[in-house]
This record gives sequence, structure tokens and C-alpha cells, in this order.
Amino acid sequence: RRRRSPGDVRAELVVLANRLPVDRVVHADGSEDWRRSPGGLVSALAPVMAANRGAWIGWPGDVMEECEIFEHDGITLVPIGISQQEYEEYYEGFSNATLWPLYHDLVAKPEFHREWWDAYVAVNRRFAETAAEVAAEGATVWVQDYQLQLVPSLLRELRSDLRIGFFLHIPFPPAELFSQLPWRRELLEGLLGADLVGFQLSGAAQNFIRLVRQRVGHKTHRDTVYLPDGRTVVAKAFPISIDTAQFEKLAASPGVQARAKQIRDDLGNPRRIFLGIDRLDYTKGIYARMRAFSELIHDGHFSVEEATFVQVASPSRERVDQYRKLRDETDRLVGHINGDLGRIGRPAISYLNASFPQSEMAALFVACDIMVVTPFRDGMNLVAKEYVACRLHEDGALVLSEFAGAAEELRQAFLVNPYDINGMKAQMLAAYRADPKDLGRRMRAMRRTVAENDVANWANAFLTELTTPRPAHDKHLRP
Ligand code: G6P
Repeated sequence: RRRRSPGDVRAELVVLANRLPVDRVVHADGSEDWRRSPGGLVSALAPVMAANRGAWIGWPGDVMEECEIFEHDGITLVPIGISQQEYEEYYEGFSNATLWPLYHDLVAKPEFHREWWDAYVAVNRRFAETAAEVAAEGATVWVQDYQLQLVPSLLRELRSDLRIGFFLHIPFPPAELFSQLPWRRELLEGLLGADLVGFQLSGAAQNFIRLVRQRVGHKTHRDTVYLPDGRTVVAKAFPISIDTAQFEKLAASPGVQARAKQIRDDLGNPRRIFLGIDRLDYTKGIYARMRAFSELIHDGHFSVEEATFVQVASPSRERVDQYRKLRDETDRLVGHINGDLGRIGRPAISYLNASFPQSEMAALFVACDIMVVTPFRDGMNLVAKEYVACRLHEDGALVLSEFAGAAEELRQAFLVNPYDINGMKAQMLAAYRADPKDLGRRMRAMRRTVAENDVANWANAFLTELTTPRPAHDKHLRP
């Protein structure tokens, strides 16, 4: 059979993301297969893509392996190869040791290396060139996230017939922080290749508009940038969400219900179970949260028989220095807390350094009483929304950082400043002691929010805005 080349695909809707939406699975007999990744993005886009000849361009996750174009669940998957050196410089380096900390309020110190930038440009160019080959005439292209911010302009140079959208899943920093970046102008110009640039929050869109005016010198008005060639770029907020119905269904399933009961039994049926679920990332505030919880026990507000904390921290970007350091520090802190406060069969914290399938996550959401989501900065935080979706009985408490995007929608959570340990302790204790009526009122309101804006709404809103024709702007508005 002839090898399928990108030019044969002719997709009407092309999605680009650093990762393909599938994971490789190896069966017991050694055969290999692909399974759709749990992410909400792909579940929202799968129906639209299957109906519109969709293609998804991304990195398959293995470094060296060459891999051909293939079909999965009605979507054409176009793998992009990345070399070991590019993995280190584009992915671990520029994406995750430069942009990630810079865009998250400098929670860690970003590193600026010119070789990393060169690799970022090279990989972005490869994505753009592949999209240029794969897209049908006049197709819609949707570029995802901080790893691919140069793709919109690189692609527009190759294919001016396309509608190009970009969505940033992580925060977009204020001008004062962004301006540290030696390549600030190039990145802004990269994004300006899009017709529509989406952010989680309107504050982020405003940061972008202001930077474009300051650093690139284009005229702007409200959410619109006016380019000298008559093109306009709109920047606005599209807060992402989850597949709410799918989580509700999962939470209601007998398997998940039974597993949730089992988890409570295994933990010795304490009065209250606290839960944290995060990638092991320094933006998530896991360390400070563990300290706050342990101090509540230490101060005598409850005992390890009355309350326990389950913290899932899934391994992430493990070879990046700051992540290694975080893992060591967290290991040490949890060991210290359990050594100090635990009793036989009763650790203060059950710390799980692993990733679990979605059904196990749902069982944890169902089993636990107080979900604690306290990042120092987070684009949205979907775990907070997943917890709310799984609380079918409208009970349970959510302790949520003001600095997570989700806090703009989930106003009824117990909101905290994650830098304020005493404040966090007070809110965790308030959640512990809360009257069930109060919790019910809060949870009902939050469940309404998550039911009204699910990920399908999000994708529709973005794609509708992207594909609605927009006239070129008048000459008199040009700078
Ligand atoms: C965040 C980013 C995503 C990224 C994910 C997992 O949610 O916004 O783009 O895919 O983290 O990180 P990883 O580096 O493993 O892809």
C-alpha cells in the first residue's frame, strides 16, 4: 500500500497541538495499538472533526520513532517527528523551562537560551509546513497552546487562504513579565498570524492587546488589532471546560460508585477526606497545601482519624531541573509530615506519585469530601470543574485558588490566596466544618455553571467566531 503523504489528506478542519490526542498501548502479546487520550479537547472536537474531514497534527510522544499518517476514530492523525535534541531544547527547554515559568507569574525562574529558541522556531516551522500541506483550500486551522505560538504567522506566509485560530491554554502574563523575553516581538508577531487569538480569561486577552500596541506598534481598539495590510486580529476570552455529561455518567456508574466506597473503607472511613489531584508541577502549590493541612492536625483542629488527605501527583516533565527539585522537596515534606503525625495504618497524607485512568479519578472525586485546588497560577484548572461535575448529590466542598482561571466562574468555592498559609488553613477548616446546607447551596450553583458551559460549547463558540466572515478594516483606522 502506498504511503499516505500529507498532501493526500486535504482536511477542512486542521488542529495542531504539541501532542496527538492518542496514547500508544502495548498489549500483553506485544502488539501495539492507539487509544484516545482522556483530554476534553479531543472529546469536544472529535464529532466536529469526524463530520468535517478533520486532521490533527501533533507529536506522538515517542522521541525518535518515525510514524506514518493514520486514522483513529474518524480523525486523520498526522505525526510530527521530534529528535532527541529537539525534545531537550524545544520541549523541555523553551516550552517548559522558558515559557512555562514566564507565563505562570515567574513561580520559577525562566531560563533564556538562544539554542532553545532556535529549536522552538525549527519545530514550529515543521508544524506549519505540515499544516500547509494537509489543509484543503480555504480550510479552518486551529493551533493549540504555548508550544506552537509561531505557527500562525509561519502558516499564513505559506497559505494566505486559510482561516487560522489560536488558543492559549495557560495564562498570558502582564506586559511587565512578558517583556523579559528576548524574543517577545517575534512571539507576538507569531500569534498575530491568526485571525482569532483565544485566551482563558479576558485579562489575558487585554495583556496581549496592550503588548501588541506597545511592542509591535499596531493600532488596537478594544479586542481588535488593526494590521497595516487591512487584516484584523481579534483577541478574546473563551474559558475552556470539560465534557460535563461524560463525567456525570462516569460518576454515576456502578463501578465508580463501588470503587469510591472501597476508597473510603481503605482510608478507614474518616469523617472527612481531603483530595488533591495535580500534575507534579511547581505552579500547583502542592507543597504549601500539604503544609497547611499538616498544621491543622498539628494545631489540634482534627486528628488523623478524623481527616486525611489524598494527594495524587502525576509525574510530569521529570527531567526538567525545577520539576526534579519539586519532587525531591515534596517527597521529603510528605515523609516528614507522616513521620510526625501519622499513626499505624493512619498516615496524615496518602501521597500517590502516579497517573490514573479517568474512572479512578472519578471514584476519588466521588469518595472525597473536600477538593483542594490551590495553584499559584493556573490557566483554568479542569480538575476543579471535574470534581464539581462528579458531585451528583450536590454535596462536598471545593477549596480553590483565586489564581486559577476557574475561580472566575466557580465563585461559590472556598476561595484562597495560595501564598497565604494561614488563610488557606482557615478556608480548609471552614470547608471541614461547613454546614451541609451551605455546601449544597454552593455546589448547586457551581454545578449549574459547569453544566451550562461544557467543552462542546467552548469549541463551538471559538469555531463560530473564527469562521464568521469579517470585513477588512477601513483605511482610516490604519496607523
Ligand atoms: C498543560 C498544557 C498542555 C500540556 C499539559 C501536559 O495542560 O497546557 O499543553 O499538554 O499541560 O503537559 P505535557 O508537557 O506532558 O504535554
